[in-house]
Amino acid sequence: MKDTYSRFLTGSMKKNMPKAGVIGWPVKHSKSPIIYRYWLEKNNIRGHYTDIEISPDDFQKCIFQLADDGFVGVNVTIPYKESAIAMADKKTSRASSIGAANMLIFRGGGIIAENTDAEGFIRNLRASAPDWNPARGMVLVLGAGGAARAIIYALVESGASQIFIANRTQFRAKNLAAEFQLSLISWDDINQATAEASMVVNTTSLGMAGQPPLDIELNCPSDALVTDIVYTPVETPLLAQAKAKGLATVDGLGMLLHQAVPGFEAWFGTRPAVTPALREKVLSA
Ligand code: ATR
Repeated sequence: MKDTYSRFLTGSMKKNMPKAGVIGWPVKHSKSPIIYRYWLEKNNIRGHYTDIEISPDDFQKCIFQLADDGFVGVNVTIPYKESAIAMADKKTSRASSIGAANMLIFRGGGIIAENTDAEGFIRNLRASAPDWNPARGMVLVLGAGGAARAIIYALVESGASQIFIANRTQFRAKNLAAEFQLSLISWDDINQATAEASMVVNTTSLGMAGQPPLDIELNCPSDALVTDIVYTPVETPLLAQAKAKGLATVDGLGMLLHQAVPGFEAWFGTRPAVTPALREKVLSA
């Protein structure tokens, strides 16, 4: 068991430097190592960030081992965001409300679960669409998975008061609607619903490379904003349609970059910047 993750460490990583990483199954698709290593270099920080691909049978043991071996924490990706929160000693209130963790902080002998997806979503919106006003009208959220939970949490926290949710599997949307006091829309009615929307957010995996596009016809008012959390490709078919109709858009790559900021700060002590150069680096990788 000792070797569960040690194959991911290079010789120099075993020395006494802050070490963090991203854990998942699979994990090779993750852009987090590019982002974190870019910031380590830019900020002249001696530290390491690695990807750790661990099967579900070894997940818990691996987390304890990383904590014992001096890691400062890990980002958590598919499929461990719920397992991570379940095994933590403490949860931040937002991780509890969202019901999932995208980072674990190892501190004082304990494990703290945090979720920075909501913060990443809002900071990206504020940076990319500074005029966005959450209270301006109806927000249509498509999808009811873990990503939707973080985004709905973020929207509620930001003051959005008219949130409508639609999901292919109606009962998942119904559960979220009840929990966060949202209005429910049938998946079959999303085209009509866009006519009232000041903002449309895709939180499903539709439109991602290898997945079918989101089948929607945008009938939004001309000042509506369309956002997607999918970032491969950066311009999803949904965003391409919105642009063709002259609507403002915000892509998912910015959310990915912004959600990493608090993690880097917690582990390496410096708040890093999301810059066009970082975006280019991730896009070209
Ligand atoms: P995540 O935690 O990343 O949000 P998830 O919990 O698997 O992942 O949620 C994926 C979302 O994409 C769900 O809303 C899912 O709809 P269902 O609840 O009906 O599964 C949605 N989704 C995935 N494939 C879809 C498809 N082909 N058509 C419509 N929605 C789809």
